[in-house]
Amino acid sequence: MKLLLLNGPNLRLLGTREPDIYGRFTLADAEALARATAERLGATLDCFQSDVEGELVAKIGAARGVYDGLVINPAAYTHTSVALRDAIAASELPAVELHISNTHKREAFRHVSYTAPVCVAQLMGFGLTGYALAVEGLVAHLRGAAR
Ligand code: DQA
Repeated sequence: MKLLLLNGPNLRLLGTREPDIYGRFTLADAEALARATAERLGATLDCFQSDVEGELVAKIGAARGVYDGLVINPAAYTHTSVALRDAIAASELPAVELHISNTHKREAFRHVSYTAPVCVAQLMGFGLTGYALAVEGLVAHLRGAAR
């Protein structure tokens, strides 16, 4: 089972970016936790981060037939991007949308997700731990255990 973890804009700044909201862990910490979780469950996980919407769209477009599922933290594009939503839908891959913070406790513009309706699940508010939980949930979904 091959999984792809995608992180969107500004998440490469984790560790120093608004630590009261996002904590002090780094993107490398999050990717390492997600990869270790996947490997513990007998899967492999590749990681990709970009600040550029089109690069994320292209990566999802190339994922079909290569990966079995996606974990994606679309970051700010969650709240704006029809292109990312369409890319996830077109991939026909099961995707878990992940957020470090609970976006419903924050500004109203963060309460809307363009991408969640084309994902199998949305997970938020667990900080770093969410990267492990999202992988666990995706693997369970792919194995049929979450149905
Ligand atoms: C985020 C929440 C988004 O609203 C924000 O734009 C981010 C990070 C999160 O992981 O909590 O960049 O996706």
